Amino acid sequence: MLRVGLLTSGGDCQALNATMRGIVKTLYRQSKEPVEVYGFEDGYQGLIYERYRMMDNRDFSGLLTRGGTVLGTSRTPFKLLDTPEADGVNKVQAMKDTYRKLKLDCLFMLGGNGSTKTANRLSQEGLNVIALPKTIDNDTYGTDMTFGFTSSVEVATRCIDEIHTTASSHGRVFVIEIMGHKVGWIPLYAGVAGGADVILIPEIPYDIENVIRVIEDRDKAGSRFTIVVVAEGAISKEEAALSKKEYKKLVAARTTPSVAYDIAAEIDKRTGREIRIAIPGHTQRGGQPDAQDRIFATQCGVEAALSCLKGKYGVMIAQVNGKMCRVPLEDVAGKLKYVDPKGDLVKEAKALGISFGDE
Ligand code: F6P
Repeated sequence: MLRVGLLTSGGDCQALNATMRGIVKTLYRQSKEPVEVYGFEDGYQGLIYERYRMMDNRDFSGLLTRGGTVLGTSRTPFKLLDTPEADGVNKVQAMKDTYRKLKLDCLFMLGGNGSTKTANRLSQEGLNVIALPKTIDNDTYGTDMTFGFTSSVEVATRCIDEIHTTASSHGRVFVIEIMGHKVGWIPLYAGVAGGADVILIPEIPYDIENVIRVIEDRDKAGSRFTIVVVAEGAISKEEAALSKKEYKKLVAARTTPSVAYDIAAEIDKRTGREIRIAIPGHTQRGGQPDAQDRIFATQCGVEAALSCLKGKYGVMIAQVNGKMCRVPLEDVAGKLKYVDPKGDLVKEAKALGISFGDE
C-alpha cells in the first residue's frame, strides 16, 4: 500500500485543484501498489489537528478547470512554527505524529514561500515531503514559474484593459494596484500585456517626479489619459533608502488603505488631474485557471507523483529553463525570486516607452 498525504497551504490560487488532480491521477495509473490518499483540510492545520478526508481517484475528476482548493487552505506562519498554538499544541510535533500515525509514505505540499520553509523543516525532521510551487506572485526561488501566476496575470490584464476604455473616455489618470506581495512579477507582466504607461514595482524604486513627467508629456502629446500600474509593494527611492525597520514602521503608520492611495494623492497634489484608483484585489486569485496554468499545474502534479514513486523526497518540483526538474528543498526554502531590473522584459518595456519611475 502507498499512503500519501496532500495539503494546500497559504493563499489560494486558480490551479491548486488541477495540480492535485495531476498528482493523484498519475499515482493511480503508475503505482504498482494500491494507493491511499489522505487529503488534509485547511493546509498545515489539518496535519496538526488530524483533520483529513480519505479520497480516491474519483474525487479528483473534473478538477482541471476548477479554481480554489477542494481541501481548503490557511496560513500557518513559519516564524511561529515553534510557538505553541493557543491550545498549547506543539505544531511540529503534532504534524510528525499525524504523519506517523497514518503511516504516510509521502506528504505532497502545494504552497508558496512560507509554506515551503515549513515543508523543508518537516523534511529535516525526517518526513518524506515533496513541495509543489504554488503562488500567483511567481516569487518562488528555484523555479522559472509557479502555478497560479499566468491566471492572475490574465485577470490583472483584463482589469487594465477594462480601465483603459473608461480612462480614455474621461481623460483621467488611473492608478491600478496589482498584487504580488514583495515582488513585481504580476504588475510587470500585466502592465506590459495591458499597455500601461507607467509600471511601479518593488525591485525598481520610483521617484514620483518621473511619474508626473510621464503624465505631463502624455498631456502635451494629446493623450488625455494615463494608466499607472502599481505593485502592492511598490516603493519610492526615499523609502528604499530606509532601513527595513524604518520602512516597516512607515507602512504600519500608513493612514490610507494601500500604496495606490498614496501615489494617487501625490499625483493629485502635483498635477490637479482627475484621478481614480482601481484595485482588482483577490479577483486576481479567483476564477478558473487559464490554459497555461492548467498545463503547468498538470506537469507539476505528474512530476511530483513520479518523484514519489522513485522515492525522491525532500525536493520541490520546478521548471528551470523550460525543463521540469526537482530541486532540493534546502536550496530554495527561505529565498525569494525577484524581477531582475536589468532583465529582458524590463529593458524591452523601457525601449517601448513604458516608465518604471526610476528615470
Ligand atoms: O501570495 C498571494 C497573495 O495574493 C499576495 O499577492 C498578497 O499580498 C497576499 O496573498 C494577500 O493575502 P490575503 O489573502 O491573506 O489577503
